[in-house]
Amino acid sequence: MKIIKIESEFEVYNGLNEVPKQVSELMVYAADARLKAYAPYSEFLVGAAILLDNGEVITGNNQENACYPSGLCAERTAIYYAGAKYPDAKIVLMALVAGSTKHKTTTPVPPCGACRQAISEYEVKQDLPINIYFMGETGEVIHSKSLSNLLPFVFEKAII
Ligand code: THU
Repeated sequence: MKIIKIESEFEVYNGLNEVPKQVSELMVYAADARLKAYAPYSEFLVGAAILLDNGEVITGNNQENACYPSGLCAERTAIYYAGAKYPDAKIVLMALVAGSTKHKTTTPVPPCGACRQAISEYEVKQDLPINIYFMGETGEVIHSKSLSNLLPFVFEKAII
């Protein structure tokens, strides 16, 4: 028997004013996309913005459905669109903003497990870490320099 210890490192910024300009600019795209989310059931709006290495910015938001499981998170809406539109581009940065319309969300909202798995697919595919910044509507911003911090022991194509 052996024990494996896995360490994850995250940077925590006090607010948007502290993050690099490129990131705060991308957060503005994410915040704008968030306001266009279709979330009549949860009233929890999420926006995602992706910066590609070709300079393009792709945005997405959560799209809910009366048949709940048919809806999709903002992160996957955005990343699948990026993959569909620019299949050869690499993802440099992802900015995520999330919050309820029923109360103010002031703590950072990380991507859900399914979205982590989806983002991981692209990190593995492009063989380049994806920087992920996530936040609530306001407040602290958390930075992960790679998706792998958020999903150790990932199930990926090399396993298959
Ligand atoms: N949601 C996202 O868009 N991204 C996440 O990572 C977590 C959850 C959405 C799904 C659903 O529309 C709403 O937030 C509440 O769960």
